[in-house]
Amino acid sequence: MAGTPQSVESIEAEARAALAAADDLPALVEARARFLGRKGSLSAILRTLGSLEPQARVTLGEAVNGARDRIEALAAERRISLEARRVEADLARGRLDVTLPGAPSLRGRLHPVTRAERDIEAFFSTLGFSVEEGPEVELERYNFDALEIPADHPARDAHDTFYVRPGVVLRTHTSPVQIRTMSGRQPPLRFIAPGRVYRHDASPRHSPMFSQVEGFLVDEGASFADLKGVLYAFARHVMGSDVKLRFRASFFPFTEPSAELDFSCVLCEQRGCATCSRTGWIEWGGCGMIHPRVLENCGIDPERWQGFAFGMGMERAAMMRHNIPQIRLLYEPDVRFLEQV
Ligand code: DAH
Repeated sequence: MAGTPQSVESIEAEARAALAAADDLPALVEARARFLGRKGSLSAILRTLGSLEPQARVTLGEAVNGARDRIEALAAERRISLEARRVEADLARGRLDVTLPGAPSLRGRLHPVTRAERDIEAFFSTLGFSVEEGPEVELERYNFDALEIPADHPARDAHDTFYVRPGVVLRTHTSPVQIRTMSGRQPPLRFIAPGRVYRHDASPRHSPMFSQVEGFLVDEGASFADLKGVLYAFARHVMGSDVKLRFRASFFPFTEPSAELDFSCVLCEQRGCATCSRTGWIEWGGCGMIHPRVLENCGIDPERWQGFAFGMGMERAAMMRHNIPQIRLLYEPDVRFLEQV
């Protein structure tokens, strides 16, 4: 273009065509700059004014100014109509059909294990048990020693303990709450202590974190028969009146005698399924008469008072109640699964 500047008329005609052809706002901005901008073609003409005769300078200057004003006005007009078009397009795209049924809002619910826990607490309160809590980061002294599980005791291996630092563990069971609760109190005592516990083994059947409910009663003449009565009532409440229980003689350092407790698999009605490993029975937890030395550790006279205790898996109860075959499902944040429960 250098040397032969275009006429103002032809620039204006070109500008009109370009603005009319600009199809969206970015194209419009670009077209406007091409003619009106500092490096645009009208500015190029203005730069030649200095070399003209005064009269010619005035004539050309006025022509350029007139053309600039008209192009500017045209660009503004074009902008308004392009913006209006965009609004219409937006409206058309998001068109609202008010006759469509509303989207159902998702309802939050309590987690099955939380529900089982609350239900268990309500049940035990009808038997006069209060709820106690203990810390999940626990002293080894409470988690093991005061329960007569000394440092070299093989029972510690079975627990696959997570150590936080020497002397401090993630509690491997809820039994330390027995110690915390009984120390400094005198019988009669009746408590449950639900909560999370941690062990180092993970498989479809086990999770590194799971929940237990500890229960214990200390009173004059408390017996194993009382323990059985309470556990039968508990099991029937959670799993229905048809559930069967099986007590197997066992060993825990903090109870004597001790038993492990199984319940009949409610999922297959004991026909045998993957959840009960085709045995018809599912392990629920341990129980027994509180060892006299544990009572002594808590300042309770075992000559006068007797106690029973149990520690049951809470997920197991929730699984039976809601027909959930694997504990893993309870702790995977899969909303599709949780919604079914
Ligand atoms: N704490 C034991 C465990 O987690 C279970 C247990 C056994 C709890 C006997 C008790 C009990 O209260 O008396 O393996």
